[in-house]
Amino acid sequence: MHAYRQSWEKDGFFLVPELLNETDLKEALAELAQLYPSGPEYAARKHHTHAGATTDSPQTPRTKNKLFMQNPEQFAGQIDFPWTGHALDRLTVHPRITDIAADLLDTTDLRLYQAQLWAKYTGATDYEQPLHLDYSSHTLLVPKKRARPQQVEMFLYLTDVTEGCAPTRLVSRSLTRDMSPVPYHVWRGTHPELYGAEVSLPGPAGSLLVYAPDIWHRAVDMTEPEGARIWMNLAYRTAGTDWLGLQSFPRIAMVPAWGRFVAARTPRELALFGFPPPGHDAYDEDVLEGMERRYPGLDTTPWRAALTSRNPSNSASAHVLP
Ligand SMILES: [Fe+2]
Repeated sequence: MHAYRQSWEKDGFFLVPELLNETDLKEALAELAQLYPSGPEYAARKHHTHAGATTDSPQTPRTKNKLFMQNPEQFAGQIDFPWTGHALDRLTVHPRITDIAADLLDTTDLRLYQAQLWAKYTGATDYEQPLHLDYSSHTLLVPKKRARPQQVEMFLYLTDVTEGCAPTRLVSRSLTRDMSPVPYHVWRGTHPELYGAEVSLPGPAGSLLVYAPDIWHRAVDMTEPEGARIWMNLAYRTAGTDWLGLQSFPRIAMVPAWGRFVAARTPRELALFGFPPPGHDAYDEDVLEGMERRYPGLDTTPWRAALTSRNPSNSASAHVLP
């Protein structure tokens, strides 16, 4: 049994410190630096932009004590998959990550349903949130709490997360099992015992925070001077659970980075995004030819092999009329 299993069953969350090491992340972090400024870079830019203005100027509104949905600035640092089509995007199918999802959901037939980068910077806005569940945007139902979940949420830390960089606060399921999931947020005034029981899980870049959909949690404000926290939100679900989701991959399939990403993938990796497996009825000779043209470089050998074994009459020679 994996070491994290006990925390998963009892608390509903755990951290795997440095699941990915510096070498694993090197290329991805170089790409990340092209997408986001570092903490000091952000601070210098902000200082320059607002020289002469106070931090409470209209250009930098700080919304206090509002429900997080009312403060869209909290989400300003989000960038949806795909990003580069290379190393960063490959982290979404990294076997050390998907193996954990498969283990927790007890299936190898997984779907990725959320892949977003998120950056927070000290002073950018007030990141404080009430304790909440994520189901409002992850499922049409409400999460199960007494049975194995069919979805799992993860934060892959891409910068070192110290206490000053606002690691997510979480509350053990052992304290919340009898709570109704509705409404999906609770306030300190009515639930002080839950706020008092919060824990945080700081860790170096490459660490993976994993939590179940019934776990109450929240973001807090960044306090580290010139601090930045950048991570990848990854969420996986069991195949066949159409009521769970967040992003639609067909919708972004015209983006060049998607094409680069797909062209270098295996059928097993592509299944995470909803590609049916080789041998599925969705494929025929025309579709495979189109896929080769749409994704130059994609090795369609496994699909072609399955097509031939499914229906030998599909082989090229079978189409030659007598
Ligand atoms: Fe959340």
